[in-house]
Amino acid sequence: MHAEPPEHVGIDLAERSYEILIGARIFDAPHSYAGLGNGGAAVVVTNTTVAPLLAERLLTALRTQYPRVLLVTLPDGEEHKTWPTLNLIFDALLQAGCDRATTLFALGGGVIGDLTGFAAACFMRGVAFVQVPTTLLAQVDSSVGGKTAVNHPLGKNMIGVFHQPLRVVVDLDVLDTLPEREFNAGLAEVIKYGPIADAAFLGWIEANLPALCARDKPALRHAVKRSCQIKTAIVAQDEREADLRAVLNFGHTFGHAIENGLGYGRWLHGEAVGCGMVMAADLSARLGLIDAGYAKRIRDIVQRAGLPVVGPRLGTPRYLELMRVDKKARAGEIRFVVIEAPGRAGVRGAPDALVAQVIEAHTA
Ligand code: NAD
Ligand code: GLY
Repeated sequence: MHAEPPEHVGIDLAERSYEILIGARIFDAPHSYAGLGNGGAAVVVTNTTVAPLLAERLLTALRTQYPRVLLVTLPDGEEHKTWPTLNLIFDALLQAGCDRATTLFALGGGVIGDLTGFAAACFMRGVAFVQVPTTLLAQVDSSVGGKTAVNHPLGKNMIGVFHQPLRVVVDLDVLDTLPEREFNAGLAEVIKYGPIADAAFLGWIEANLPALCARDKPALRHAVKRSCQIKTAIVAQDEREADLRAVLNFGHTFGHAIENGLGYGRWLHGEAVGCGMVMAADLSARLGLIDAGYAKRIRDIVQRAGLPVVGPRLGTPRYLELMRVDKKARAGEIRFVVIEAPGRAGVRGAPDALVAQVIEAHTA
């Protein structure tokens, strides 16, 4: 059976421009990787969960394009998004005699993508890498835009660099094996794009949530494509997050506090972002930017996507302490992504007392 032609979404970043291919049965199609090789080895980085599902098929495809193909399998989990795990990649590359012509392939979710991209940025001062995202979250968000990082005990994604991939290969079929909880976590990042950038897209998500939750392929294809279009448009204007790109962090200030406060891996990143969006939308309403009805609409969509809408009771002082360790914070002031109008977001500070009201209202 022939793989159907993928759709292409381009990201315009001058000499760092690349394409996102979106389709079915494309991650193991040799032509998805045509023209990328530069004579060096292809190193697939994945984890213990994804390797048995998908690695051999990707290795087989890459063997047609690269002279040498290697596999590096890391432990699975957000708690492994750390320096020691990064070192496992460097150990494998050096032990295999890899050189500057090496291309890394991130086969997995956002954790593998962030680790592999960081490793690619650092190995021999920078080698190429390709994103092959296998979770919904990675397909609609983390594989695009070149943010790479590891977590620090004091803060999430605190140590990292910008390093753009050569290509992103999004195969919707690989989502078939994704557990429901992980799939729903990915929906949080899809929902995010509506309030921050495209009011009509939020309406589309609202109407098509049952189809999305049933993993209907045409619905998924539209959701992934529109998400990638919105993200690429924002990143193309502000690659290094001087300003505009921060809106992609809607829900993340509260969300990162939840993830870190509970210990990485207890709540999934997308779950924390979903609940964080509910809190950030309420903050936007309390700041008088949107009406309470719009905030409730966001809450209802997050809940219908099977995501938590009530945060853990870490205590307001702990939330505030955790949120001060955020890349958007300036001189100790927490800055939040707020919805300024349906489909438009901005970044601003808010009085602690108001933030405390939000925390009290949405945690238990
Ligand atoms: P993840 O990478 O931990 O993957 C979720 C789980 O699904 C893992 O257990 C994984 O092994 C498993 N899995 C992956 N693909 C599978 C498949 N096809 N079938 C079955 N199981 C599969 O989590 P995630 O939600 O993909 O990513 C979250 C991470 O992404 C966080 O660390 C977050 O900080 C990061 N992130 C980065 C960016 C960015 O711009 N770089 C953006 C958003 C999120
Ligand atoms: N996920 C946030 C960003 O890429 O900027």
